[in-house]
Amino acid sequence: MKALLLAGGLGTRLRPLTENLPKPMAPVGNRPWLEHLLLHLKREGIDEFVIAVKHYPEIIQNHLGDGSRFGVQIEYAIEQSLLGTAGAIKNAESLLSDRFLVVNADIIHEVSILPLVEYHIQHKGLVTIGLTEVEDPSHYGVVQQTDNGEIVRFVEKPKQDEAPSRRINAGIYVMEKEALQWIPKNKAVSIEKETFPLLIEKNVGVFGKIINGYWMDMGTNERYRKVHWDLLDRKCSFPLKEKEQGNGIWVGKDVQIGSGVLFLPPVLIGDQVHIGERSVIGPYAVIGDGCTIGKHVRCSETILWDDCKVHDSAQLSNCIFGYDLELGASHILYQAVMNRTAGVLQG
Ligand code: GDD
Ligand code: MG
Repeated sequence: MKALLLAGGLGTRLRPLTENLPKPMAPVGNRPWLEHLLLHLKREGIDEFVIAVKHYPEIIQNHLGDGSRFGVQIEYAIEQSLLGTAGAIKNAESLLSDRFLVVNADIIHEVSILPLVEYHIQHKGLVTIGLTEVEDPSHYGVVQQTDNGEIVRFVEKPKQDEAPSRRINAGIYVMEKEALQWIPKNKAVSIEKETFPLLIEKNVGVFGKIINGYWMDMGTNERYRKVHWDLLDRKCSFPLKEKEQGNGIWVGKDVQIGSGVLFLPPVLIGDQVHIGERSVIGPYAVIGDGCTIGKHVRCSETILWDDCKVHDSAQLSNCIFGYDLELGASHILYQAVMNRTAGVLQG
C-alpha cells in the first residue's frame, strides 16, 4: 500500500516561518518534519510514497529526492495551481495503488496505521477516516457517526456551537482508488468541503475510527511550539539525532560550551553549536545545528532553526527564529516569530 502525503498547502497560519518553506519541511526537533513522517510510516510498514507538492516543491524534492537515502521510494505529483486536498489526490491518481493511505503532511503524529487499515478492510467502505477527539472542534473537520462507525455527516470547521460532536478528522485516511471517480479532474476540490459530503450522500461507505498515538496539527505558532515542548517532555518519541545526557538535556556533535553555561532542562542543542560563557539555556529551548550563542545570553521557551546567531547578553523568551537569523547584543525579544526575508511578527 502506498501513502500519499499532502504537502502543497501555503501554510498561511504559520507565517512568516512558511513564507519561503513548505510547512511540512519546518523542522521538528532539528529535523524537517517530512523526514520524521517518512521514517514513522516506514516503521509502520509503508515504503512507497507519493508526495503532492505545490508551494516550493523544489525544496521538498531536493531534500528528499527519490527517498533512497531513507530506504523508501518517493514519487512526486506536482500541481501547477493549487488543486485543494481532493484535487491533489486526483492529480496523483496514476501513481497510487488500488488501496492507499492519505496523510495531511502537516500533522505531527505517531499514529499506528495497521489498526486503521484492518478496520477499513473489515468495514468495506471506500474511505476510512482516522479520528481524534479535541476540546474545541471548530478548527477541524467534525464528524457525526452511527453506532457502527459509519460517518453520516462531515462538517469542515463548523461554528463553535454547531459542531455535531468533538470527534474530528485527524487528516489520515485509508482510501480505495474507486472513490476517486467522485472527484473531477484538473479542478480545485476540497476533500473536506466537497468530496466527503458527496461520498456520504452517495452512501458508498465512509467510516471513521479513533486513532491511537500522539497527534497534533502544527498549523499555528502556538501548536508548533507545543509540539516541541511535547517532544522534549517525551510525550512523543520521534528519534532525535542528538544524544540525551540522561537528564532532559540532548546535545549534538561538535558542540562547544563555554565555562559557567547553565542548561535548564529540557533542552535540545543541535550539532556544531557554540555557546559563550555564562549563558543560561532553557527551560524548553531547541537550538538548531550551526547556531552561535554569545556570552551571558538567556534563552528559554524558544526554538532557533539552524545557523542563527545570538550576540552577547541578548535575551530570548517564547520566540521562534527561522534559519540563519541574527539577534544583536543586549537585545530583548519576547514572543517574536521571525524569518529572515519575511521580517518579524510579534505575537
Ligand atoms: N498538494 C496540495 N494541494 N496539498 C494541499 C493543498 C493543495 O491544494 N491544500 C492543502 N494541502 C495540504 C496541506 O499542505 C496540509 O498538509 C494538508 O493538505 C491539510 O491542509 P491544511 O490547510 O493544513 O488544512 P487544515 O489544517 O485547515 O484542516 C485539515 O486538517 C485538519 C486536521 O489537522 C482538514 O483536513 C481538517 O478536516 C482536519 O481536521
Ligand atoms: Mg493543517
